[in-house]
Amino acid sequence: MKKLLFPTVATMAATFTFAQDIKLPAVDVHQKSLSVVEALATRHSVRTYSSKELSTQELSNLCWAACGVSRNNDFRTSPTARNRKEVRLYVFTTKGVYEYLPVENILKESAKGDHRKLVAGTQGFSQDFVLEAPVSLVMVVDLEKLGGQDERSKMMGCVDAGNVSENINLYCQSVGLCTVPRATMDTSGIRSLLGLTDKQIPVMNNPVGYPK
Ligand SMILES: Cc1cc2nc3c(=O)[nH]c(=O)nc-3n(C[C@H](O)[C@H](O)[C@H](O)COP(=O)(O)O)c2cc1C
Repeated sequence: MKKLLFPTVATMAATFTFAQDIKLPAVDVHQKSLSVVEALATRHSVRTYSSKELSTQELSNLCWAACGVSRNNDFRTSPTARNRKEVRLYVFTTKGVYEYLPVENILKESAKGDHRKLVAGTQGFSQDFVLEAPVSLVMVVDLEKLGGQDERSKMMGCVDAGNVSENINLYCQSVGLCTVPRATMDTSGIRSLLGLTDKQIPVMNNPVGYPK
C-alpha cells in the first residue's frame, strides 16, 4: 500500500505524490559544461560505465535536459511535433522504474526493483554493458497524444523520441557523463512492466553513467 504524502495540482489533472516517488531538486542551469559546439565536436557513444550512482541533482539535470520544462510550463527542452509533448521518459534505476513528470519535477514510481535487464535487450539479443550504467532513460511515444496510429504519426513520434535522445547525448557529453543512443531493448517486456497500451511505444533508450 502506497503512503500518500500530499496532493499537488500542477496541471489540469491532480497529481498525487507518494512516498516512493522522488521529488527532484530544481535544475542547475549554471552547472559547468562544455559549449554546444564543443559537445557536438566531441560527442561519441560509450558502451562501458563506472558503477558510480548519479545524485538526485544529477538525475534532475539529466531529465530536464532530455525533456524538461523550458518556458511557460508549456514547452520542453526538446521540440515535439505540434508541441504535443508525446514522449514519456522512464528512468530505470537499480531500485525502481520511474516516470519523469516535467511540470511537477518528480520521478513517479512505475515499478519497484531493478529492471535494467529489459533495457539491455531480449534473451535473443542483449547488450549487457547496459547493466553497468546506473540508470537508463527509456523514451516511450504516446501516439494517443499525436492523434493516431497512422504512419505519419508514428514517424513524428520517432523523430521526437530521437530529439530527446540527442538532448541526452549532448548533455552527457557536455557534463562528463557518458551514454549511447539505443533502439535495442525488450519492448514487450517493458510494455507489460509499465502497463503500456498498444498506442504507447518504447522507441529509444539511453544508458547513462560515469566513464569507467
Ligand atoms: C536510432 C539509433 C539506434 C541505435 N541503436 C543502438 C543499439 O541498439 N545498440 C548500440 O550499441 N548502439 C546503438 N546506436 C548507436 C550507434 O551505433 C552509434 O551512434 C553509431 O555507431 C555512431 O557512433 P557515435 O555515436 O560514437 O558517433 C544507435 C544509434 C541510433 C541513432
